[in-house]
Amino acid sequence: MAIEVSGLSVDIGGRPIVSDVAMGVADGERVGLVGSSGSGKSMIAKALLGLLPRQASASGSARLGGTEVIGADETTLAGLRGRYVGVVFQNPGSSLNPVLSVGRQIELPLKLHYDLDAGDRHERVMAMMRKVGLDASLAGRYPHELSGGQQQRVGIATALITSPRLIIADEPTTALDSITQRQIVDLLVSLVDGAGASMLFITHDFSVLARATSRCYVLDRGRIVDSGQTAGLLASPQVAQSRRLVEAARKLTLGGPDMETL
Ligand SMILES: Nc1ncnc2c1ncn2[C@@H]1O[C@H](COP(=O)(O)OP(=O)(O)O)[C@@H](O)[C@H]1O
Ligand SMILES: [Mg+2]
Repeated sequence: MAIEVSGLSVDIGGRPIVSDVAMGVADGERVGLVGSSGSGKSMIAKALLGLLPRQASASGSARLGGTEVIGADETTLAGLRGRYVGVVFQNPGSSLNPVLSVGRQIELPLKLHYDLDAGDRHERVMAMMRKVGLDASLAGRYPHELSGGQQQRVGIATALITSPRLIIADEPTTALDSITQRQIVDLLVSLVDGAGASMLFITHDFSVLARATSRCYVLDRGRIVDSGQTAGLLASPQVAQSRRLVEAARKLTLGGPDMETL
C-alpha cells in the first residue's frame, strides 16, 4: 500500500514540529525516514496513523492507499490501523501489553479485525510464531519473560498477523544490541517482501537503514533536507545533515562489523 505525503505540517502549541513535508512510498517499496533524535520522525509516523497528541494540529495531506488520513474521523483511521497498516514500535518492552501472554498478544488484532473461530485463530498465531522465529513453547509466556529480541519478534508478529499492506516501523531496532538489530531488520525485510507489503522504516541510524531500505528521506528539524538511494547517500552524502548521520553511523560501527556489508 502506498504512502503519499504532501505539504504536511504539524504544530504543537504554535511551535512547528513538522514543516511542509513531502514524501512517498510506492506499493511494495521499502523506504527509510532518517534523522537525528527530536527531528520529528515519530511525529510524522503519528500523523500517518492518526495518533497525534491532542494538542497537535496537522495540515496538508497524507494518503495511505489513497485514503486521506489528515483530518480523517476515528472510524476511517481505526479501519486502517491494525488491519491494513501494521505498526512496529521502538521499545517492545513497553509497547507490548504486560498482562497478555505471547499467544494472546499476537492473536488480539485478529480478534479485532477478523471474524474467525478460535481454532482458526490459534493456527494462524502458531504459523506466525514460526515465521518470526519464536518457538511454540513461548506462546504461554509473558513479555517480561522474554529477551529484547524475542519481545520485538512478538511485536513484529502482532503487527503482521492481519497481513497488513503497509508496515510503519518506528525505530524498531534501537533498543537492541547490534547483532540482534541485524537479525530483526533482516526478519522484517523478508516478511514484508514475502507479503508484498510496503514499509516506512524510521531510524536515526544509517547503518540499519541500509539493510532495510533502498531509498530514503533525511529529516532535520521537521523538514526533509535530502533524499535518494540509501547506498548513494551512505557512500557520498552531499548534504551536511546526511554527512553527520553517516559519520555517526560509522562511529557506531567502528571496530565492529565492517561498513561495506551494511
Ligand atoms: N506530546 C508532545 N508535546 C509537545 N512536544 C512534543 C510532543 N511529542 C514530541 N514533541 C516534540 O516534537 C519534536 C519531534 O519529536 P519526535 O517526532 O518524537 O522526534 P524523533 O522521533 O525524530 O526523535 C521534539 O522536539 C519533541 O520535543
Ligand atoms: Mg522517535
